[in-house]
Amino acid sequence: MLRNFFIGLSENQLLNQAAQKYGFQLGAQQVVAGTNIEEMITSVKELNLAGISCTIDNLGEFVYEKSEAIEAKEQILAVVDAIQEHQVDAHISIKPSQLGLDIDYAFCEQQVEEIVKRANKVGMFVNFDMENHSRLEPTFRLLDELKAKGYENVGTVIQAYFHRALGDTKKYNDTRIRLVKGAYKESPDVAYIDKQDIDENYIKIIEEHLLHGAFTSIATHDHNIINHVKQFVKEHDISRDQFEFQMLYGFRHELQLQLAKEGYNFCTYVPFGEDWYGYFMRRLAERPQNMNLMVKQVFNK
Ligand code: FDA
Repeated sequence: MLRNFFIGLSENQLLNQAAQKYGFQLGAQQVVAGTNIEEMITSVKELNLAGISCTIDNLGEFVYEKSEAIEAKEQILAVVDAIQEHQVDAHISIKPSQLGLDIDYAFCEQQVEEIVKRANKVGMFVNFDMENHSRLEPTFRLLDELKAKGYENVGTVIQAYFHRALGDTKKYNDTRIRLVKGAYKESPDVAYIDKQDIDENYIKIIEEHLLHGAFTSIATHDHNIINHVKQFVKEHDISRDQFEFQMLYGFRHELQLQLAKEGYNFCTYVPFGEDWYGYFMRRLAERPQNMNLMVKQVFNK
């Protein structure tokens, strides 16, 4: 129930505007690496020093006007340039909806291609984050069409809660894929709802892509899954160059450092920007204990 409550809040546009207006408070600053490029680059440099690479998300949701989507694209291009200029170990993650997917597919594709092209010039990978079910097909289509145009620096996310996830994992075995459990509220017609079913499907798709796929990003804070992967790669003699673990900025920081220290490739997902509200509410929906972060922040002032 709490999950639905926070997901509902994440989708509330009025609250989103209010959050921006009333500042970067309520604990978001512990899980969002600043509101501008300069602050984000400082955070990335710190993580790089600990042997951790980063994937940068310029936060943004609720884009219904072409002008907003164009503005978002310009900001993302500035992120690509900043990563290059500062020579930090990072690539980018983008959300198609922020670039106009809900407005006009062809317009969105043009915008995404501009970003992919700029990143490609400097050998940078671009991940298409996967959003809710209605955006699944168009996001895969973006990926397919850009790959067909010859771009190899693109990949996407497969969400284990979808019934179709194993089929998608097999289909995209030639692609660098991030595997996650899934963060949005979905219908039981298309997705597993029960945690155990999701976890079982998650293990299935991880094993499938590790054995038969291209580079695999295993994005989870779940130590049971991480321990399973460690054991699985050992048993199947899978090289550490073939995969990485990923976690979100500000979550289980000690475990992030430990995995990097143990010699695993590790990548932190670094969100930044003023539009932090929806992202933050989804994190509360996943784990209401994250509310502790919020409470600590409010009382530590
Ligand atoms: P889950 O929330 O199931 O927790 C399992 C167990 O792990 C918990 O019971 C607890 O024991 C432990 N645990 C979890 N969090 C902890 C914490 N903070 N501290 C201590 N213990 C903790 N989703 C999506 O739909 N599209 C996307 O593109 C992405 N992208 C993405 C990138 C990255 C890098 C990550 C890490 C996640 C995503 N996600 C995502 C979100 C993902 O789908 C999922 O909702 C969250 O990661 C939560 O699921 P977990 O697998 O982390 O563990």
